[in-house]
Amino acid sequence: MIFASDNWAGAHPKIAESLTRHAAGFASAYGSSDLDKQVERAFNEIFEREVAVFFVGTGTAANSLSMSAVARPAGVAFCHREAHMIADEAGAPEYFTHGRLCPVDGPLGKLEPEALEAAISHYPPQFIHSGQPAAVSITQTTEIGTVYDLDSIRAISEIARRHGLPLHMDGARFANGLASLDVSAAEMTWKSGVDIVSFGGTKNGCWCAEAVVFMDPDKARDFPFIRKRAAQLFSKSRFIAAQFDAYLKDGLWLETARHSNAMAARLARHVEASANARLAWAPQANEVFPIIKLSKVDELKGAGAAFYPWHPPHGSAAEIGSDETMTRFVTSFATTGAEVDRFGELLA
Ligand SMILES: Cc1ncc(COP(=O)(O)O)c(C=O)c1O
Repeated sequence: MIFASDNWAGAHPKIAESLTRHAAGFASAYGSSDLDKQVERAFNEIFEREVAVFFVGTGTAANSLSMSAVARPAGVAFCHREAHMIADEAGAPEYFTHGRLCPVDGPLGKLEPEALEAAISHYPPQFIHSGQPAAVSITQTTEIGTVYDLDSIRAISEIARRHGLPLHMDGARFANGLASLDVSAAEMTWKSGVDIVSFGGTKNGCWCAEAVVFMDPDKARDFPFIRKRAAQLFSKSRFIAAQFDAYLKDGLWLETARHSNAMAARLARHVEASANARLAWAPQANEVFPIIKLSKVDELKGAGAAFYPWHPPHGSAAEIGSDETMTRFVTSFATTGAEVDRFGELLA
């Protein structure tokens, strides 16, 4: 009953098998192998256009280097107040850009267009003292398991466009968002105005595979040097390629995302049915946030359930009683229906 995080899960057997298969023999280094090139073409197919793909090792690297690609002197990038970039990356985006992140509010982990517009207005382009707007970033799936629908992405991208700002998507859980919306990768990104994606594989079945994807390869001309200087150009890049090769083949990435989303929905049904817990909000992907009776928490942990306590997010309408606590449960490709049901029985 491991619901601590999707990165507690190991690697999907097909990805482990691909890593083993590609471990033999020789391949040219630094992203130049046939396999690297083949996987780059696979990215073109899923995005339905020619994109520029750069493998990196962590989601933090993908986000920080994406921001670095659009950095400006005294640059300010706008993201949600609870975005991983601003809350959980120890200042890495600022470190790589020499710029700043500006927190923007919005309910349920999503940027509110009016709040974004107001935040940008505090940085008039010609006003030397405040700094200059550089980018807008959204997270799909958000840090609290909610999903931007296409209209919401378009509303944000229109504001970004109007201010001449590129739109970045932190897609550490890209596949979960896509599976939830049941749209194409093209629709959820460039067709809705997204320019750069941090494309995550690690949380959804890879061992360690992330990529920065530019929807317009012309905008990526300097990126090889940005990545190299950040020490993210892997000499044995073929092993990241080997993971993405299996991940993208025959829709494995969407299959694992659909599975983890379904496991979260099943977990949510158990929470709704229990007198000891309730949902803080409805899950839309693979994260569930139950408010649980304090008296029950130790019992669940004692029975082997792993999950984290969580702070109610900004603007959350959920009221927490003195005998309750908010928690976060994350499901993954490796979560089984049996363990979800076992947890449900304990919770009931
Ligand atoms: C939304 C989001 N973005 C980025 C990251 C960063 O990933 P990593 O821990 O690989 O740097 C995480 C990791 O938890 C995440 O949840």
